[in-house]
Parts: sequence; C-alpha cells; structure tokens
Amino acid sequence: MTTSWWQTAVFYQLYLRSFSDANGDGIGDLPGIIARLDYLQDLGITALWLSPHYPSPRVDDGYDVSDFYDVHPEYGDVEDFKALIAAAHARNIRVLADLIPNHTSDQHPWFQASRLRQAPYDDFYVWSDDDQRYKDARIIFLDTETSNWAWDEVRGQYYWHRFYRQQPDLNYDNPQVQEAMLDVMRFWLDLGLDGFRVDAVPYLFEREGTNCENLPETHAFLKRMRAMMQAEYPHAVMMSEANQPPQETMRYFGGQPGRPDIPGDEFHMCLHFPLMPRLFMALARADRTPIVDILHATSPIPANCQWATFLRNHDELTLEMVTPEERQCLWDWYAPEPRMRLNLGIRRRLAPLLGNDRRKIELMFSLLFSLPGAPVIYYGDEIGMGDNIELPDRNGVRTPMQWNDSANAGFSTAFDLPTPVIDDPVYGYHRVNVAAQLADASSLLHRIRRFIRIAREHPALAAGELTLLDTPHPALLAFYRTMGEERILCLHNLGDEPLRFSVPAATDLLADQHLPAGERHLSPYAYHWLKC
Ligand code: NOJ
Ligand code: CA
Repeated sequence: MTTSWWQTAVFYQLYLRSFSDANGDGIGDLPGIIARLDYLQDLGITALWLSPHYPSPRVDDGYDVSDFYDVHPEYGDVEDFKALIAAAHARNIRVLADLIPNHTSDQHPWFQASRLRQAPYDDFYVWSDDDQRYKDARIIFLDTETSNWAWDEVRGQYYWHRFYRQQPDLNYDNPQVQEAMLDVMRFWLDLGLDGFRVDAVPYLFEREGTNCENLPETHAFLKRMRAMMQAEYPHAVMMSEANQPPQETMRYFGGQPGRPDIPGDEFHMCLHFPLMPRLFMALARADRTPIVDILHATSPIPANCQWATFLRNHDELTLEMVTPEERQCLWDWYAPEPRMRLNLGIRRRLAPLLGNDRRKIELMFSLLFSLPGAPVIYYGDEIGMGDNIELPDRNGVRTPMQWNDSANAGFSTAFDLPTPVIDDPVYGYHRVNVAAQLADASSLLHRIRRFIRIAREHPALAAGELTLLDTPHPALLAFYRTMGEERILCLHNLGDEPLRFSVPAATDLLADQHLPAGERHLSPYAYHWLKC
C-alpha cells in the first residue's frame, strides 16, 4: 500500500499568539515561529497546523476573520507567511493553516456591505425578518449566547450565527459565497501552503425542520472544495473539524460508509473527536471498553483517508457528544471545580487533567502514537505545560510557550505580556520549560521525541491494520498494528494494578531491547510497543 504524506505525518498544533515573540511586543508572531523551527525539527514533527493568522478583532481569538487575504499585523505580513512556509519546507516540515468558511467577523467588509444591502454582498449572510426560523438548531456557545439569531439595527433584520453574535454565518446558498471561499483557499495554496484544518464544517447550510448540521447540501459543497483541491493542489490536505457522533463524523471522509475500497471524496483527514473523550474515560475507569467500542464504531474508513488523532487542543475538552452520564463522570473525575468547566467541556491542559502523573501522561501519548491515525500534538503538551483557570474563556490553555527559566519564560522580551506566563510552583516556567527538559535525558520532552522517532520509523503505528485482542483484564488494551511484513503488538495498562500478559518473542521498540517469549509484567499505566 502506498501512503500519502499526511497519513503518517506527525502534526504540531501551534497557537501563533503564544508560541514565540520575535519583535518583543509581547505577542507571538510568524518570525518568532521561524526562529523556533530548529526546535520543532529536532522534536521530529513533520507538519505544523497554525491557529488563525488572519486580521481579526479577536472576539473569538482569530476565528472571527475580518480579512481572508491578509495576516494579522500583530503576527507579521504575507511576506512573513511565505518566509515561514519556505523555512519550514527547507526542514521537510509542511504547513497547514486554519480555514474558517462558516462565518466571518461582523467587522468583515462583506458583512458591513451586507448590512447596507450593497451588491454583491446583500445576500452573503443569512438574514431574516424574525428570529423564529431554524428552531431545531442547538446553541453551541451555551455560556454566552441564548439564541442563534441577533438583531442588526442597520439592516433592520436578524442575522444567523452559530457561534458568538460577532461571528455572522455566511450564506452558502449563495453561489457567490461558495466561489469566494474557494478563491480564499487558492490564494493561500498558491503561496505554497500544504493544506487546511477546516473549522466548523457541519454548519455551512441551514434547512427548516433539521438541526442544521451535517446537511446533504453541506457535504455537497465540501466535495466541491475537495474536487478543487484535487484538481489544482493535489499535494495538499484538508482536515475537518466536525465534532459529531461517530457515524456523522465519518461521513466527512466521503466515499461510502463501510466500503474502505471506495475512495473518500470529501476530507482527506478528520479530527478524531469520537475517540478523544473515550481515551480519558477509559483511563478514569481503568477499562478499555470505551476505546474498543469507539474504534469499532469508527472503522473502516476509506483507504485513501486518515484520522487525525489528538489528546488536547486550543478549545475546551469537548464533551458535547458523549451521554449526559458519561459527561458527568468525566466532569467529576477531571474537572472537580466548576471554573474548570466551560460550555459542555473542560478547559484544562493535558498534564493538569492527569494530575501531573508522568505515568498517565506517557500512557496517553503512547495511545496517541499507536492507535490508528496521524497524531496531532498541542504545543506545550510535549513538556507537560499547565493551565491557568483564572483566565477567562479558553485563554487558560493558550498561555505562552515555556522556553526557559528567564523572564517571560523566554517567550518574549516585552515588559508586559497580554497573556501572563504560568508561574505557579508546579507548572511554572522555572520548573517546566524546554531548555531544562532538553538538558535532562529522562524528561517528558525526550520521551515524546522518542515516541515520534519510533512512530516515524514504523508507519504501521499510524496507518497499519488494527487488530484488537480480547484479554481477561479489562484494564489491558492490547492490539496489533500490521503493515506489510511488520507487526507491532501494543500493550497499555489503563489501571493502577500490575498485570501479567503472555507475549511472543519481540523487540521492545521504545526500550530498544530484544525479549524472549514469555509472561510480561505490566506495572500500573505501563505501555509497550513490541515488534514481533
Ligand atoms: C472551532 C474552533 O476550534 C474554536 O476555537 C472556535 O471558537 C469555533 N470553531 C468557531 O470558529
Ligand atoms: Ca510579536
């Protein structure tokens, strides 16, 4: 089987504003990223996903775009963007940007013109005389919004918005909107970009009597997007952000459900939202069942597609798509304080979620690298960064990258930072930073580097066949990953009790050690990748 580059890529999600500040104004920027590419290359990642880089009033941290054709001046300009792509490519690192097709900022000139009914923008947004249409659509930002409609004084009509009221939804029934978004994609791909993580894809169309999510019209337009990419930029990848139930999430691959032989014709990759909360659930319960069940429910996928797996990202850990009982269990376990919660989720980073228990952090990364899919690492999780729940909204998981123990964690030379660095006794930058972990061979950072190296040497781990083993211990998750001649047995002890398990003669890839056949002892939260 030939694999495409993105099927075995290791992605790094980089939140632009907090990664590295080159000009000393306290805000991360594109030249700052270029200055840190050596670090990323050494870490071993093969692709970057940048958080939104467009001009924006930042009501939703850049997901409210006011110009699709430029770079936010705080981050640099289009020349800097080109320079980043060139510098990343020189290190064999590909670059994905965020594409936000569903909505714009209310400051976008299209919306300003639409309010005034100016051609050709009159019909670019979803306007209505009353706020009673599409009643069956849920509200997503439950903590802040009470309706998906907002009143516009200027036009004297309501407009539709699935997120903040400052983010009016574009009207995809208007063919000009569709063309406009395809042109936006072309503009960035022409600069050499390698693809997009596409935001909020389920919501493009609205229809009365439906929940306005995953509509056939939405899929039809996304297939058009893909067809354009395939024809004009065949090297590039589209990754969907569709946080939906398993069957609906998988539909964004296109193709035909249950028919891996029929090529997917929509997204090359889908972020694996169904798997993510089940990893945390399985760990909390010391029981593999939630993982096994969801793996069954989310396969097979078309052979020319791939999951993008992740543990955390820049948003709250979403629990929208689990049952109310499961949500309560996960809240009780991982977010005991109310201010750790947001909307239907948990606004915490990986290390604090896992009680900063090194064994559990490594175990979760081991699952990330060995279960089907190309892994996406959220910046800072490779050093076990903490969060700041004093900050509002999702800002607490978007704090400056901790590079060293100098002022501002080496992130910026500014006097004042708009988002403070973490400075508590456990996760503060004096203790948790890149420089200290690079100097310590036993650090989490070195462990993650090793995971990445082995995963890159053994593509079976990302893209091989999966065979789950039935074992008598509920806490033991055991599976084979097979590709061609290679077969890797992956073992994970999800519980705090030691386990015994009989294994064939094998090479322990992470320990680089040959082991004879026999009983293996798995200590609490232990994991092994055994090439047999
Ligand atoms: C999903 C993004 O990840 C999130 O940060 C944003 O608020 C919404 N989409 C709306 O664009
Ligand atoms: Ca800056």
